[in-house]
Amino acid sequence: MAERHFSTLPELFSTLPELYRSEAADDALRAPGFSDIFVPGEGEVGAPLMLIGEQPGNQEDLTGHPFVGPAGHLLDENLAAIGVDRMTTFVTNAVKRFKFTLRGKRRLHQTPNAGDIARYRWWLKEEVRLVKPRVVVALGRTALRALDGVSLKNDRGALLSWNGRKLLATIHPSYLLRLHDRRDEAEARFREDLRIAARGAGYGV
Ligand code: URA
Repeated sequence: MAERHFSTLPELFSTLPELYRSEAADDALRAPGFSDIFVPGEGEVGAPLMLIGEQPGNQEDLTGHPFVGPAGHLLDENLAAIGVDRMTTFVTNAVKRFKFTLRGKRRLHQTPNAGDIARYRWWLKEEVRLVKPRVVVALGRTALRALDGVSLKNDRGALLSWNGRKLLATIHPSYLLRLHDRRDEAEARFREDLRIAARGAGYGV
């Protein structure tokens, strides 16, 4: 399937299941270096808050569900800490398959490049259009690149106007897992970002 860009994308599907079923026929998405497993977004249509990560990791690839590994646990914990049940949100990724290289038997995560992000951008656009969240949270740089042009450095933690909705940029939770020093401080700031997004989406938190 040809690449499509966010602003010029046609409206292609009327439901999420229809959108996700279409991937089975889409061999063009099985680029070298990617898993065959497509991990769709999860949550309810109409969820007020949409959280967008980078791509499925090893655990997500094995289970077919987004954010179920260590980064997902950290996301769940921080949402719960501000009084948001993840089940009331919609969770997805900018890229829908795990990109990795093999080292022996280990599958090592590879960061998606601009072409990978562009190839999957229309999925994200369709998810946003069909779910209709009030606030979209970009978790880290890949999600931000997928959503166009917002800078984590300059715009982090603010509710920005974006495509008729609000967008908040914050870190990816896996960044916290890599921190040795000052993780508590960084996690508190991440939680505060989530709280601002949740309030903007209408949660009483
Ligand atoms: N990291 C992501 O960005 N997404 C997942 O689903 C899991 C880990």
